Amino acid sequence: MSIKTVVGAQWGDEGKGKIIDWLCEDAEHVIRFQGGNNAGHTIVSEGKTYKLSLLPSGVISGKYSLIASGVVVNPQAFFNEKASIESQGIVISPENLGIAETATLVLPYHIALDKAREQYSTKIGTTLKGIGPAYEDRVGRRAIRLVDLLDLETVEARLENILFHYNALLQSMNQETFATHDVLAYIKEHAVPLLDYMVSDTEIVEKAFFDDKSILFEGAQAVMLDINHGTYPYVTSSNTVSAQTSIGTGYGYPIAGNVIGVAKAYCTRVGEGPFVSELLDETGDIICQKGQEYGTVTGRKRRCGWLDIVALNYAIVKGGITELAITKGDILDEMDEIKICVGYKHHEKVYTKLPLTIDLYEVEPIYQSLPGWKSSTFGITTWDQLPKNYKDFIYMIEELTKTPVSYLSTGPDREHTFKI
Ligand code: IMP
Repeated sequence: MSIKTVVGAQWGDEGKGKIIDWLCEDAEHVIRFQGGNNAGHTIVSEGKTYKLSLLPSGVISGKYSLIASGVVVNPQAFFNEKASIESQGIVISPENLGIAETATLVLPYHIALDKAREQYSTKIGTTLKGIGPAYEDRVGRRAIRLVDLLDLETVEARLENILFHYNALLQSMNQETFATHDVLAYIKEHAVPLLDYMVSDTEIVEKAFFDDKSILFEGAQAVMLDINHGTYPYVTSSNTVSAQTSIGTGYGYPIAGNVIGVAKAYCTRVGEGPFVSELLDETGDIICQKGQEYGTVTGRKRRCGWLDIVALNYAIVKGGITELAITKGDILDEMDEIKICVGYKHHEKVYTKLPLTIDLYEVEPIYQSLPGWKSSTFGITTWDQLPKNYKDFIYMIEELTKTPVSYLSTGPDREHTFKI
């Protein structure tokens, strides 16, 4: 049996969908264990581009895919995405896709509250998909879970109380409020059909272990956006680290195996929050243009910067990362010089480990410089074909992180990924 987990090793958008899709070949089950339709996974295969937010990437290669308990499920987003992927010739049915009975639903009032809060100066720069309020409901014991839809009378009674809470908040921000019967009608129309897909994620994982199946756990967002371990408060509302595989599926035993951390050859970030190696100059613009760094979910321009080893080393420890996949090195093909952030300077003090006790906005990056490779690496699929300076860049990452770089991606297509 093989167990692999893929997590983002930066601030998201590292190309996880593509690496997951590539690793799917050897997997029998693909399990999404956190996040919701705030994620944006792009898979390019045989000339077709698939955009996934909520569905596990395994659906594209026809592997049994599971949306586990740790995920928050927007019913309308689920069916829209399903329809869009099916229109590209992929079949999705309860035969190859399950949703955990205890998964939390994302409902219209979550989205309304997310949008309302993001109007203030304390905004996080969220995807406005209602993810934060849905996870808050889970912890606040107000959430409506998939299994709850088996008893709509109780849901209706609970909704009354849930809407006291939401309407009070929305009213205080001069927003429209919700009526119970409208939300109930929405649930009947959009959420109840999800019951066709309801399964026990714990049973599926347990059985997969007993039957010696290979499992691929699909992470969304990234370690630096983890609710406990990321650059709080500029984070998402779920645990994105690999330890979440156990909690997110309700399979209590620690799930071992390889953890692949996906990182770009540079860094990007969307939304607010500190970004020490951010490039606010022409180089940043070049990376953004060449890398097409615009959000899959929101279309927002991503902030770009050099590879940050201080943050990456932190993500490796917190994320339980055992090997790295480096993507998008080809975006740096024309650079004369490539920089790697190897330390942080704060008021004359130098840090090589991510300091959580200082204001990261006040930090200056310390860079190590490498000569560029100045030749096209796009689509190269063997190590030997890569230019020497590219290889030196990868060796440098391995040396600085003490973690093997096992996979490289040199272009958007499925064929452009290889194991070193
Ligand atoms: P939320 O997850 O929509 O609440 O957004 C919280 C923060 O996480 C914001 O900075 C978002 O831009 C960021 N975020 C959420 N999902 C992703 C993702 O898939 N890629 C990159 N950033 C994300």
